[in-house]
Amino acid sequence: MTIRACVFDAYGTLFDVAAAARLAAAEPGQDQLAELWPRLAADWRAKQLGYSWLRAAAGQHCDFWQVTQDALDWSMEAAGLNDPALRARLLALYWELPAYPEVPAMLTALKAAGYGTGILSNGSPEMLEGAVASAGIGASLDHVLSVESTRVFKPHPSVYALVPEAFGCTAPEVLFVSSNGWDVAFGAGFGFASVWVNRAGEPVDRLPARPGHQLRDLTGIPDLVETL
Ligand code: LAC
Repeated sequence: MTIRACVFDAYGTLFDVAAAARLAAAEPGQDQLAELWPRLAADWRAKQLGYSWLRAAAGQHCDFWQVTQDALDWSMEAAGLNDPALRARLLALYWELPAYPEVPAMLTALKAAGYGTGILSNGSPEMLEGAVASAGIGASLDHVLSVESTRVFKPHPSVYALVPEAFGCTAPEVLFVSSNGWDVAFGAGFGFASVWVNRAGEPVDRLPARPGHQLRDLTGIPDLVETL
């Protein structure tokens, strides 16, 4: 089956989610954060995903910006950080997370080869707009799809169904790319061709479906898609 569109998860796949804590920790006067930012970043991400799954399971949706703030509040309290100015700075940085270095050239190559391109993310439309604009990749993306139109988070199948609907193609004509093992597993189960961007070399998640392919970063996507 020839691929017609390549669709990417946003946070952790195109955008470096740990960058907010890392960049804030490098700013003047952040000695305490400089010590503990890796734990803060890990807790923030783990709670953000955990809260999204719990809200989806319980049918109590709120947007991903609320989930992101709730997760940061838990993580700052766990780290003993009671600093409203730091909270505001971390949240501001989340709106302009840097893309991984290989992202712009990879998207340009896919567009030049004639593929449709897009994002499918838990992020709210406003968050995604901010990240895409700050990374300067908007011109290389045909669709930026947010779960907000379904009002449930990944991995609910109604989220993955947004992609074939937007691109006017079937699920097997989509290459879905995510660095989140659980996300790519459920995307594969939905019927997409799939790539797990396994930057940390982790084991494959034990879920009902497995990723079709694995890469260490996004550089190889334009070559891989030509083989599918
Ligand atoms: C997203 C989260 C899962 O962008 O990273 O959907």
